[in-house]
Amino acid sequence: MDTSILKTFESDSDAATEQFAEKLAGMVPRGTVIALHGNLGAGKTVFARGFARGLGLDEQVSSPTYTIIQEYKLPDCGYLYHMDLYRIADSASALGFGIDEFLNDRNSYALIEWPERIEDILPPETLHLTITRTGEESRTLKFENR
Ligand SMILES: Nc1ncnc2c1ncn2[C@@H]1O[C@H](COP(=O)(O)OP(=O)(O)OP(=O)(O)O)[C@@H](O)[C@H]1O
Ligand SMILES: [Mg+2]
Repeated sequence: MDTSILKTFESDSDAATEQFAEKLAGMVPRGTVIALHGNLGAGKTVFARGFARGLGLDEQVSSPTYTIIQEYKLPDCGYLYHMDLYRIADSASALGFGIDEFLNDRNSYALIEWPERIEDILPPETLHLTITRTGEESRTLKFENR
C-alpha cells in the first residue's frame, strides 16, 4: 500500500491518536503488518487500541508487555495480533516461538511494538509508523518507507 499520501499526522491527545489509528484500520487490507516505532511511552499501545476499535473489536487492548503476543478474534474471521517485542532479544528467539506464523497470516492484521528486534525478518510490505513525542500530549506520527 502506498502510504505516502498519509505523510505525517500531528496528534494532540490520546483520543486523536486513537482516531487516526481507527481510520487507518478501515483503509488497510487484511494481511497488513504495521511496525510501530517509538520510545517508551510514545503511544504505540494507544495507537493499537484505536486500531482495534476500527476493526470492530470492543475488547480493551492493553499493553501486552508480559505476554509478547495478544490475539483478538475479529468479528468475522481472522485476528488482530498485538505484539510487544521489548523483551525479545532478536529474530532468532522470535522465530523460536513461531512469530513467522503471525507475520504471514493473510487473514489477519499484526501490530508490532519494538519491531527493531526483528527488523531482519519483517515482511517487505510492512508499514513502518514512527511515533515521536513532541510534548506532554503532542505526538508526530509518520509513515516511512524502509
Ligand atoms: N497524543 C497522544 N497520543 C498517544 N499517547 C499520548 C498522547 N498524549 C499523551 N499520551 C500518553 O502517552 C502514553 C503512551 O503510552 P503507551 O502505552 O501507548 O506507550 P507505548 O509507546 O506503547 O510504550 P511502551 O514501549 O512502554 O509499550 C500514555 O500514558 C498516553 O496517555
Ligand atoms: Mg506499549
